[in-house]
This record gives sequence, C-alpha cells and structure tokens, in this order.
Amino acid sequence: MRISVVGTGYVGLVTGVCLSEIGHSVICVDIDENKLNQLRAGLSPIYEPGLDDLMKRNIQSNRLFFTSDHKEAFQNVDVIYIAVGTPEKEDGSANLFFVEQVAKSIGQNISNDVIVVTKSTVPVGTNNWIKEVIKENLVNKVEVKIVSNPEFLREGSAIYDSFNGDRIVIGAEDDESANIMEKINKPFGIPVFKTDIRSAEMIKYASNAFLATKISFINEISNICEKVGANVEDVALGMGQDSRIGTQFLKAGIGYGGSCFPKDTKALVQIAGNVEYDFELLKGVINVNKKQQEILLQKLFNRFTSLEGKKIAVLGLAFKPNTDDMREAASIVITNNLLESNAHVVAYDPVAIYNAKKLLNNKIEFVENLNEALVDADAALLLTEWTEIRDIDPSVFEKLMKTPIVLDGRNCFEIERMKKFNIEYYSMGRETIIPAVLKTI
Ligand SMILES: NC(=O)c1ccc[n+]([C@@H]2O[C@H](COP(=O)([O-])OP(=O)(O)OC[C@H]3O[C@@H](n4cnc5c(N)ncnc54)[C@H](O)[C@@H]3O)[C@@H](O)[C@H]2O)c1
Repeated sequence: MRISVVGTGYVGLVTGVCLSEIGHSVICVDIDENKLNQLRAGLSPIYEPGLDDLMKRNIQSNRLFFTSDHKEAFQNVDVIYIAVGTPEKEDGSANLFFVEQVAKSIGQNISNDVIVVTKSTVPVGTNNWIKEVIKENLVNKVEVKIVSNPEFLREGSAIYDSFNGDRIVIGAEDDESANIMEKINKPFGIPVFKTDIRSAEMIKYASNAFLATKISFINEISNICEKVGANVEDVALGMGQDSRIGTQFLKAGIGYGGSCFPKDTKALVQIAGNVEYDFELLKGVINVNKKQQEILLQKLFNRFTSLEGKKIAVLGLAFKPNTDDMREAASIVITNNLLESNAHVVAYDPVAIYNAKKLLNNKIEFVENLNEALVDADAALLLTEWTEIRDIDPSVFEKLMKTPIVLDGRNCFEIERMKKFNIEYYSMGRETIIPAVLKTI
C-alpha cells in the first residue's frame, strides 16, 4: 500500500517507520523543517528505543520518505494517517486546530480516492467532522472514506508496542474500509477489533481514563497506607495477584504525567459535560493526581524549616523512564515550587535534559551525571524511575550528600534495604526511615 502519515511526532514517526518496516511505501509529512532535516539525515528527533535503527533501514530500502510538501505527500497514496497533536485548550477540551489544518490540506491536495485514518486522539464525532471539512475543501472529484484507528503505544516502548500490542481498534464507516485497514495491519499479527467510528473514538478516551483511574486509586490507597502503617507496594502486589485486578498501573508515586493521560482525562470530562453528564469519578481522578506531587513536596517542606539556599538534587525529569518527553512531567511543578522557596535546584536526567532546558526555569542548574547532582546536596528528590536511578548504590547518598535525606517519589528502593544505611528515606505509601544519627540535623 502507498501510505502517507501526517505529523512526525511520537505517534506519527513510529507509525510511519513501523508501516514501512512491514513493507508499505510510506511518506511522512510535517511542517517542522528542523525535524525534517534531522529525519532526512536518518536521525530521530525523539528518543525512542529501537527507532533509529528501524528508521535508517527503511530509508535505505526506499520505503520511507519525508517531506514538508503536503501536495507531494497526498498525491498517489491509498491511505492517509492523521497523527498530529491534539493538545488541551484552556477549558480542558481537545484543540483540533492542527487536525482541521490537515483535513483542509487533504481536501485541497488529493487527486484519487483515499481512506483517511485518524490516529490522533480526538473527541467522539470528530472523524465525521473531518470528513465534512475534507469534502468542503475538495478540488478534485474523488471519494473519501474515514476510519478511526486510535493509538495505544506507550512512549519508551513504542516500537515494541507497535509489533506486540494487545489489539488494533478500527472504527470504520463501511466494511470495505475496515477490511483494507485489517489487511494493512495484518503483518503486525495483532488482533483487530472492528467497530463503528464513534465507539472507536470513545475506546481511546475510556482506556486512558481507566488507566489513570487505576493510578489515582493506588495513590489514594498509598496515602492511607502511610497513615495506618501499611506498605503500599505489598498491598498493590497482593491486590494485583487477583487476575480480575492485575498488577499493572498499580504503582504508587507522584502521579501520572505525559502528553496523554492529563489531557485525555480532562477532555473526557468535557466530552461528558457537552452531553450534560457530570463525570464525577474522573474529576476525582484528576484532583488526586495533582495532589500527589504536593504530598512529596510537603514531606520536604516539613523536614526543613527553610529551603533558602539549600542544594536540592532533582534526579529524573522526564515524565517517565525511557523517554525524553517532558510534557506534563511532575518535575515541572516540583522544581517551580523548590525555586519559589529559594532552593538551589540541581537537576539530572539521563535523556530529557535537552527538552527540560527548554521547558523548565532557567534558574535550575543542569548537570551531566548523578554524582554531580548529589555532591553536597541537602536533600535529593527522585522523580523518574530510570534504571540508572533505581540502580544507585544507596551508599552513594551517604558518601556524597551533605545530609543524606532522600525523598523518593517513585519508590525506587526497597524499604528493608534502605534501613541498612544512614539515610533518611521518605517514599510514597511506606514507612519513613529516620536513622538515629540524622534525627537532630
Ligand atoms: N505520545 C503518545 O504517547 C501518544 C499515544 C497515543 C496517542 N497519542 C495521540 O497522538 C496524537 C499525536 O501525539 P504526539 O505525541 O505524536 O504529538 P507530537 O506533538 O509529538 O507530534 C505532532 C506532530 O505533528 C506536526 N504537525 C502539526 N501540524 C501539522 C500539519 N498541518 N502538517 C504536518 N504535520 C503537522 C507537528 O509539527 C509535530 O511534529 C495526539 O492526538 C495524541 O493524543 C499520543
């Protein structure tokens, strides 16, 4: 099949690369010339394990092309995937500006019948609207079919997920389009779930809202665990062994972030509100998530009378490990709070430093390695559970820090292990460890 993918972000680039890997001829189009220059040179503008190799291989095999020219991208293709961003508006609803631009451009540039597939996460009813916008802008007499094909990949394991996902959801307006989509995806060997367009659009929001609910649920349990003296890690394990519950997404911490859960939960509250339905449960999930970052900060504020001039090492900035994505990362709110208290914030992340520098306050000192961040620090905040951070030998905190006070927002270390060191250790939903020698500092 000849396929065009619009948008070369986290979803579009992975989609384009993986579709070319299974044998399709793919042209990716973006409006960001900087990204395109990198892509044409065979370099991925995002950090995603395995992406670079796959990309280079398919460029060399002449199955993967990049352009900024929408005309070139939309002519002589059978299928066009839309994978542009749908960021949140101020009221929490999805901003469809980029999708609308693409729909107009498709109408203006296509010269043969096409199937337009929406990968972007869009509110229920958007695909029908996309079809209307395309039709209003058509220059040539051609037929357009639309398909909703929401994306479920996880940043950090996006390539793995593309070849090993649990299901591919296809919401089509007719059997023919659904069957073509099934054929395109067949080499992935992933079960296909066919449904109508509106249900497909809803599946994406409902899935993300449910996963966010699991996270906020375990975070509430974690807060209660702290007060009643239970260990949330054991509670989650014990719960998760029940196959009706499952162990995934039951990790207590400072909450979810990233480009999807925060915006998609808010958008679903809006979607419900538009049909006069008050999604109370989801509003609670969103509020609990905000609270988790404050809970970690409060532990730090309670520990020090003042943070003025204190060196606080912040380890991990990306919203989760194995990605350079900083969108809605907990580190944004937390570092801002530290700076407001006049702390000297020294931050380290193995991969996200470049994006973090663009997004975080320039008063933060960014360093190249963990040790540099920890030397003479008054306290360390662990915000992302990168392997490099989980693998720290705790004696390093003792050796390098001025006062080995560690606040672990991701429960990177086992409680029993931390008891063997002279480290004051605060984590989420578990007992606090205060060695006798540190009590008076
Ligand atoms: N990131 C994820 O993990 C993930 C997972 C599932 C679904 N989604 C959804 O997929 C969509 C894309 O997300 P993302 O994270 O890849 O976004 P992104 O911001 O990383 O990428 C979007 C890209 O679209 C490009 N673009 C914007 N307008 C364009 C136009 N008119 N023509 C060509 N290119 C254009 C931008 O330059 C950018 O490169 C969103 O709706 C998101 O909710 C994201």
